[in-house]
Amino acid sequence: MKQLFEPLQLGDLRLANRIVMAPMTRNRAGADGVPTDVMVEHYGQRGDAGLIVAEGTWPSAVGQSYCRQPGIATPAQIAGWKRVTDAVHARGGLIVLQIMHGGRIGSRHIKAEGVETVAPSALQAAGEIVTDIAGMQPYDTPRALSTEGVRAIVQEHAQAARNAREAGFDGVELHGTSGYLPMQFLSSGSNQRTDEYGGTAAHRARFAFECLREMAAAIGAGRVGLRLNPGNTYNDTRDEDSAATHAELMRQAATLNLAYLHVMRAPTPELDAFALARAQFGERLILNDGFGPDNAAAALQDYAGAALSFARHFIGNPDLVERLRAGQPLARFDRKTLYTPGAAGYTSYECYSAAALTA
Ligand SMILES: Cc1cc2nc3c(=O)[nH]c(=O)nc-3n(C[C@H](O)[C@H](O)[C@H](O)COP(=O)(O)O)c2cc1C
Repeated sequence: MKQLFEPLQLGDLRLANRIVMAPMTRNRAGADGVPTDVMVEHYGQRGDAGLIVAEGTWPSAVGQSYCRQPGIATPAQIAGWKRVTDAVHARGGLIVLQIMHGGRIGSRHIKAEGVETVAPSALQAAGEIVTDIAGMQPYDTPRALSTEGVRAIVQEHAQAARNAREAGFDGVELHGTSGYLPMQFLSSGSNQRTDEYGGTAAHRARFAFECLREMAAAIGAGRVGLRLNPGNTYNDTRDEDSAATHAELMRQAATLNLAYLHVMRAPTPELDAFALARAQFGERLILNDGFGPDNAAAALQDYAGAALSFARHFIGNPDLVERLRAGQPLARFDRKTLYTPGAAGYTSYECYSAAALTA
């Protein structure tokens, strides 16, 4: 375990340890996308992580996917996030914001009046989305973006990165997984474009690459990360050759000298996403999926990652870093309160010492 607690430099980010809190959508923002008091407390409680990647956050209203999902587009959202980053920095932590444009994963029952849903092509995703006002709903059929429209969204990503810095974030991470907009461009099943953003893998990778390039130009490459999950089929994602497509984007991203690549294990064992990332991107890797006390120590060595990220263990263990260090047992979490508003199941989990005292 010792290696996990050693400091690490990732681009301009100096991590005190190699335990990263992975991004988790928890739907605790206000209806206006403004971070709330419980979010300030939640992230502050976890401020001893080497790095926190804050939840998927929309760069513009069109990019919103979920109810009570935060944005980083308005002055009130920036001010709200500033309180979050202050709470994390007060604990000596680092926090970057995950920029998530949902593309076709969205619903007019969630977005503000008149806000549309857009995507690379006018192809509706299969499946349904939870809405607060109308229950389960099919995804909107998106409007296909014009080439100019794509370029405008690239610029929205640059502005989101500037806004994140204004809000005190140490950097940003582009959400390139789970069937949201960058992955909709990457995947042949959702991208039927005939302009320079569609067709070959190199063209399908162009949108994510340009977002990264412009975010890097806005705030410095050493403060920009990318998250990928080769082989992911979530949210109706289909690609003719996910490994080859991801290899292409990793190769392009490697030319930008980014802070890191945050890579998730592929869902099928035939695809070794960690090896692919190492070969195409290099050494600044944050590895994710399924790590815990039993396998974390070996994972850094076996997979030659720079750091590991943990999502679910951070839900019930605000003091996960200390628990891993001291070998204390981990608490479980309540699935029913994952996405409900308020403090229950969000800021209500105790640190081990406090839990032990009240037990
Ligand atoms: C409640 C919840 C919300 C999540 N939201 C996001 C998100 O906003 N962005 C993202 O990239 N991944 C998201 N994920 C995926 C996690 O970051 C992580 O990849 C996954 O849980 C596997 O890691 P783990 O085994 O440590 O839990 C979410 C996962 C959970 C459980």
